[in-house]
Amino acid sequence: MTIVQFEHRDGILDLGWGHPLPSLLPTGAWAAASEATLRTYGWKALTYGHEPGPGPLREWIAERTGEVGATFVTAGASHGLALITQVLTRPGDVVMVDSPTYHYAFKILTDLGVELVPVHADDPDEVRSVQTKRQPRFLYVVPTFSNPTGASLSVEIRQIHASNGVTLVEDDPYNELYYETPPPRTDKTQIRLGSFAKTVAPGLRLGWITATPDIVTRLAHLGYVHSGGGVNHTTALTMAEFGRSGAFDRHVQLLRDRYRQHRDALADALDADRPAGGWFLWLKLPEGVDAESLLPVAEQHGTSFVPGPAFFVDRQGGHDHVRLSFSHLPPAELTEAARRLRVAIRSVLGQ
Ligand SMILES: Cc1ncc(COP(=O)(O)O)c(C=O)c1O
Repeated sequence: MTIVQFEHRDGILDLGWGHPLPSLLPTGAWAAASEATLRTYGWKALTYGHEPGPGPLREWIAERTGEVGATFVTAGASHGLALITQVLTRPGDVVMVDSPTYHYAFKILTDLGVELVPVHADDPDEVRSVQTKRQPRFLYVVPTFSNPTGASLSVEIRQIHASNGVTLVEDDPYNELYYETPPPRTDKTQIRLGSFAKTVAPGLRLGWITATPDIVTRLAHLGYVHSGGGVNHTTALTMAEFGRSGAFDRHVQLLRDRYRQHRDALADALDADRPAGGWFLWLKLPEGVDAESLLPVAEQHGTSFVPGPAFFVDRQGGHDHVRLSFSHLPPAELTEAARRLRVAIRSVLGQ
């Protein structure tokens, strides 16, 4: 009986999955928050919820993030992107996407009929030129500890985009997962997609959108929200309790300490730069090694990854990079996976 999305393959230490280490999911603390929520709110925890999300969670998110916009509770960042695309675009509209960027965003966007135009989000001139020529509805970016590169977009560049009239949709699930110092934040965020998938648990299917009150009202008036009430109400209320009780802060601190060790194990074993946060290492391959040709060789040697082209619209780029996730395996297995990868690279190079 299949229960989870992850598929284990015998003999493979897989660096492809951006999933949490199972033992770092807070089963005990979440059970305590569930019980406390039912004691505190009784039937109100189990009925239809307030359309934009329950007040206790919206308030906690606003306090914690310091965001000035209004908040709408979603079933995660993926859902947030689908919803924001639904309200901001019509089929045939153009949306700019950073290049490279989170590959699963492409299908979320094209499912809704928009045309994707890749840009380099760190090049305001290029973005402004597409903005003038194609009138895109927004620019999709993963601004902090990006998937796949681990890099962050500077606050200055985000502000230039805003002053050039570009609507930024910031998909920001890794913001809290910094390993040295907190990342920069803009006070000019237009639309931010938050998620508890990386900081608490992906199975909660819980996140939020911060946007203008007008956009949040449009989201809250969507037919299915009107019909079904606020998204994931019971889980959202439980998350408010998890936050209020201090469990969230304790858990995120634990994750920073542990995933820092994961990052160091993988980066050190590959002599690669350490990303400042998030879950991914974007490894540049030696000259003459193609990411997609390397994959079957790596799998023969017992490891796997996502080849760079996956993160480019129409796979137009990234042939010299691979994305390695360091979230899902413990440090000793990351070190061994890196060793296998190095052997695979050497064999492609004929060494
Ligand atoms: C940039 C980015 N956005 C969204 C998601 C999915 O988030 P959620 O589980 O909240 O839908 C991920 C997960 O890998 C991600 O890396």
